Amino acid sequence: MELLYLETVDSTNKYAKEYIKELSDKTVVYTYNQTSGRGRLERKWNYMGEDNIYASIVLKPSSEMKEVYSNLTQLLCVVLAEVMEEYNPISPPKIKWPNDIRINGKKISGILAEGVNNGKHFDGLVLGFGVNLNVSKDVLDKIDQPATSLNIEAGECIDKDVFLKKVLERFCLLYNRFIEEGFLLIREDYKKRAEFLNKEVAVKVFDKIYKGIAEDVTSNGALVLKSEEDKKQILYIGDIL
Ligand code: BTN
Repeated sequence: MELLYLETVDSTNKYAKEYIKELSDKTVVYTYNQTSGRGRLERKWNYMGEDNIYASIVLKPSSEMKEVYSNLTQLLCVVLAEVMEEYNPISPPKIKWPNDIRINGKKISGILAEGVNNGKHFDGLVLGFGVNLNVSKDVLDKIDQPATSLNIEAGECIDKDVFLKKVLERFCLLYNRFIEEGFLLIREDYKKRAEFLNKEVAVKVFDKIYKGIAEDVTSNGALVLKSEEDKKQILYIGDIL
């Protein structure tokens, strides 16, 4: 993996997408000063200070898009949760489908995957992730959604470079097998950490809301919802409200 450190940048995802042609496969673009971070569904990703992670992995697995690439966010999600667990937070990190990580219902990390196409050619994928590693309670309280940070959950300061190295090493270790075997490789590890399973949830898919019991996660990472009428719905994208 090649590391590309930028002293300051509007968004590591935006930068990686813009320069994807020049960047080699598995380059990690990262900064400690991201001025205009972006989240899923046109949301913003708040800047929480320089002791946190703002990074994007450039991946160029082939010249055409394959279904399994859309599950890479779930691989990264499991890897992030595993590394967080090494720091022994009082409560374990949990996954909110498809790829948010929360501790005690408070968000600690988010992932934004973006594909880059040039006509029919698939240039690659940018897998951006932000992790709150060292944020004070005061700053967290000012955010418009419940959020936490690993230093608070683990009761110690977290070395951001060590954390990033652990994540990238673990991700690289699993990556090739994941491309071959798909979501099944991590399905059990993912489900073990899923906070939504067997609970009643409402899922927003574009402007529609689906309600039901989150029954399972399929072998390709989709969410199985069982509605009141016992109907099963399989959701591939969406946001649990
Ligand atoms: C989300 O939870 O909505 C996803 C947040 C992703 C944030 C990261 S921070 C690094 C990378 N650059 C961005 O602009 N966004 C991602």
